[in-house]
Amino acid sequence: MGNNVILIGFMGCGKTTVGLELSRGLGRLFLDTDEWISRQRGQTISEIFAEQGEEAFRDMETACLQELLATCENRIISVGGGLPVREANRRLLEQLGMVIYLQATPECIFERLKEDKSRPLLQGDNPMEKIRAFMEARQDFYKEAAQITVQVDRKSVQTLSEEIAAAIEWQVKNIKAGF
Ligand code: S3P
Repeated sequence: MGNNVILIGFMGCGKTTVGLELSRGLGRLFLDTDEWISRQRGQTISEIFAEQGEEAFRDMETACLQELLATCENRIISVGGGLPVREANRRLLEQLGMVIYLQATPECIFERLKEDKSRPLLQGDNPMEKIRAFMEARQDFYKEAAQITVQVDRKSVQTLSEEIAAAIEWQVKNIKAGF
């Protein structure tokens, strides 16, 4: 297993914000797969979805993980909310490092994203229904991919970052102890 820390979870669960805070706290570089893909392609995620479609974006996510596996060490990495759905991606995450699932309720996600226009999958009517349906479909994949699950509702970024840092330390100690 690589020594990166990877944050997974639904859109709006705080992967990027918490990732940046953890990166400061632990003195590790931060990388976000959406940002990486967007920079590489010279397009926003919404443009990629609109012009090339979701499947092409999913292929870009897999290619991104393969590249990170070959080049990244000791990083905090946040990944797009749909990335762990692909089996191949879950296998790549496993090799890349310790995976942490930031679990949020649909209500919390709705509150955070109700004005958001940057997530193509949640645009249009009934965003709450969409959130519930996607979450239901993805929950098991997130749980399967993660070594650690952290509840995020009503916690500050600081609290979450401290909780995750402590969980990482605990996990590392147990791995070293042979558990
Ligand atoms: C997606 C989540 C987004 C982005 C794209 C698709 C998803 O990332 O990858 O809009 O399928 O859940 P965030 O989880 O960072 O919002």
